[in-house]
Amino acid sequence: MKKPDIASVAVVGTGVIGRSWIQVFARAGCRVRAFDQNPEQLARAMAWFKADLKDLRSRGEIKKREAKARWDLVEAVDSLEDAVAGAGYVQESGPENLAAKRALYAEIDRCAAPRTIIGSSTSTIDMTEVAAGLPGAARCIVAHPVNPPHVVPAVEILGGTETDRKVVKRTIKFMMGLGQTPIVMYRFAPGFVMNRLQSALVREAVDLVKSGVCDVQSVDDAIREGLGLRWALLGPFGVANTNADHGAAEYFARFGESYHALWDDLKTDIRFDDDLLRRIGKQTDRMLPSTHQTQRAWRDRMVGRIRRLKAEDPLPLKPRRRTKTGKR
Ligand SMILES: NC(=O)c1ccc[n+]([C@@H]2O[C@H](COP(=O)([O-])OP(=O)(O)OC[C@H]3O[C@@H](n4cnc5c(N)ncnc54)[C@H](O)[C@@H]3O)[C@@H](O)[C@H]2O)c1
Repeated sequence: MKKPDIASVAVVGTGVIGRSWIQVFARAGCRVRAFDQNPEQLARAMAWFKADLKDLRSRGEIKKREAKARWDLVEAVDSLEDAVAGAGYVQESGPENLAAKRALYAEIDRCAAPRTIIGSSTSTIDMTEVAAGLPGAARCIVAHPVNPPHVVPAVEILGGTETDRKVVKRTIKFMMGLGQTPIVMYRFAPGFVMNRLQSALVREAVDLVKSGVCDVQSVDDAIREGLGLRWALLGPFGVANTNADHGAAEYFARFGESYHALWDDLKTDIRFDDDLLRRIGKQTDRMLPSTHQTQRAWRDRMVGRIRRLKAEDPLPLKPRRRTKTGKR
């Protein structure tokens, strides 16, 4: 893989998401300085990184030399200043609340060199609010991954109102250089793109179970053995394109009325309650009797295998132009 154009990065906050970013950056050959305000958490993140490298080696995915090279690129440091010094890009992965993000961003903005980009893993918060009033608001941006980013490449890229267009372009280019897939957004929407899509589907999944149409297993089988098999290859528009002889526009013209009728029928007032949570928990545990850790490890291994399979036999796809950040 070609080395990304930013050689040195800081990871600030090394919980579930931050530790996974360490693997993303080191895999791409970046020098990484990692910091967490909780030293024990930082030690745990480094232990996780070591174990993940060992796991990759034991599965034959990387050689000993590669594991050592990645390990040598990462340094755990005990201050934010040290982490950010000399970094061309900072990935902030602190707690998900506006006050904490604003405080952390103010500190990073104070310590980082003027051209350094400050990306946030936030899942929900508008960068306009995080960066409001900061001297360096123009270099602040959302880079929201899917968990865990070293396994799943999609990352939502979205500036605030003060973010410089050049910062958006440089972040998109950097993420592509890391092997991640930027999901570019032109403006803020609650939940960004992926959580909006996920929430729409999960709302219906929960409603199907709550209203007694089917059980948890039928919903999961419908995705695992049905829709999900295609969605791992093509998105909803790509699937529509392959479902009619003349492509997506013909498909939606033909089935538009059916979609309209179903959209009218979809419920919007569903809420979780104790009984529903118990039913979902019980049915899901019955369906998946192995430990959560086993399920997570299997998921991560299989996602890696699916990605390798797709890379071996790719469908021509016009790559996103690195410079595109606005409406087409
Ligand atoms: N967990 C997910 O599935 C997921 C997915 C995508 C994005 N995110 C986002 O990533 C971010 C981190 O989430 P997480 O799940 O890793 O949380 P986490 O609680 O596991 O980790 C947060 C870490 O930040 C550290 N921290 C707190 N204040 C700090 C400070 N001032 N300086 C340095 N470190 C500090 C904490 O000690 C902790 O280790 C959040 O914004 C979250 O919304 C999470």
